[in-house]
Amino acid sequence: MANADNWQGEVLRTLRDDGSTPGQEPPVDSPVGSPVGSPVGTPTDTPVAVPPPHPDQQHAPRPGVRPHPVTPPPPHTPDSRPVLDPSLAAAAHRPRHGEHLASRAVRILRRTVSSSAAREVAETTAIAETLQRPVTTGRQIAVTSIRGGAGKSTVTALLGMAYAHYRQDPVLLVEADPALGSLPSRLGAESVRWTTGDLAGIVEPQMSLLDVTGYLVQLPGNAWLLPGSQGQIGTMLDTKAYERVMVSLRRYFGVTVVDCETLPAEVARVALAAAQARVLTAPATLEGITSTHAVLQWMRGLPRHMITGTVVALTELVPHSGIDLDKAAQRLTETGASVRALPYDRHLAAGGPIRTERLAHATREAAAALAADAFRLSQQRR
Ligand SMILES: Nc1ncnc2c1ncn2[C@@H]1O[C@H](COP(=O)(O)OP(=O)(O)OP(=O)(O)O)[C@@H](O)[C@H]1O
Ligand SMILES: [Mg+2]
Repeated sequence: MANADNWQGEVLRTLRDDGSTPGQEPPVDSPVGSPVGSPVGTPTDTPVAVPPPHPDQQHAPRPGVRPHPVTPPPPHTPDSRPVLDPSLAAAAHRPRHGEHLASRAVRILRRTVSSSAAREVAETTAIAETLQRPVTTGRQIAVTSIRGGAGKSTVTALLGMAYAHYRQDPVLLVEADPALGSLPSRLGAESVRWTTGDLAGIVEPQMSLLDVTGYLVQLPGNAWLLPGSQGQIGTMLDTKAYERVMVSLRRYFGVTVVDCETLPAEVARVALAAAQARVLTAPATLEGITSTHAVLQWMRGLPRHMITGTVVALTELVPHSGIDLDKAAQRLTETGASVRALPYDRHLAAGGPIRTERLAHATREAAAALAADAFRLSQQRR
């Protein structure tokens, strides 16, 4: 990993040199639900559901179904590739539940006899209200970390699932980490065809939501995935392609969550600056907390909204990590960022597709609260 001072200096240079002020969003030419783009809900509109997918949705571009005279055909149509090799997928055991049976029983008993149940309901209601708030322009949330394996793809998937569950407007999950990323597998996608890099060369302002979703993988709810690669080594994504995709797609989706590479990768730095809110995933280890604290300290030197629009997902990647999460959170919060702890979950630890009904109760609550935090922060920016 790069020395902290080096990458910080480099980020600053990039943020200054790329023609945009740090934290300044790319230009947005029309709000969510604009006539050109899509039938997406606005505060005054009733959100309109996305049309059902064409049976061949993930296997051929939509323009073939509904041709648009000015949409240029893609240079070539890639083959659809399975996300998991069937022979390797057979090695997986049945998905585990996030918590032990005994823990579940104790929790249910506590809830029935204690007064905390009412408080829990009130908190859940407040979170649901936040997550359902309408937007006028699409909100983009970047998820990154200073260390690899810190839980970025897992958190991106959890956030996307939470938004798709609560929101009526379309939700997009973008994989901006082309190096054998795990987001498609986490989301249970069976096959992928078009990638973020491909779409950069295809997307045109006059395309409709129907055209655009023809290049995406449909997920449960009103959610869509744009994979970073077809699982090969060596796929590249440059900042220009990333910016083009993000600027073009913003009007179609109420919320977009981006699974970025580990910092200080260039696309991740651009994504941090361009997003309306940021999630930094940090393993709940001494090293994870220390390096994340260093990043947050550096962010304090940038325009204030960069740090105040950031939430740290402090993730327990092992059971009983031995870290005092409250103390760690307090230390990180002193920088001006928010912090949300994500507990160890056996179902998440096992890898593979995330099934929300298998998550521990505490994980589901923490993920929804994290989604609400990030969404609330994203609403504070244009
Ligand atoms: N809350 C959790 N409880 C238990 N294990 C977790 C949790 N969150 C993530 N993990 C595990 O941690 C590992 C790393 O997670 P993930 O792949 O999401 O990280 P990443 O930052 O995207 O990694 P990369 O840098 O390789 O892209 C995975 O094995 C995942 O199953
Ligand atoms: Mg990842």
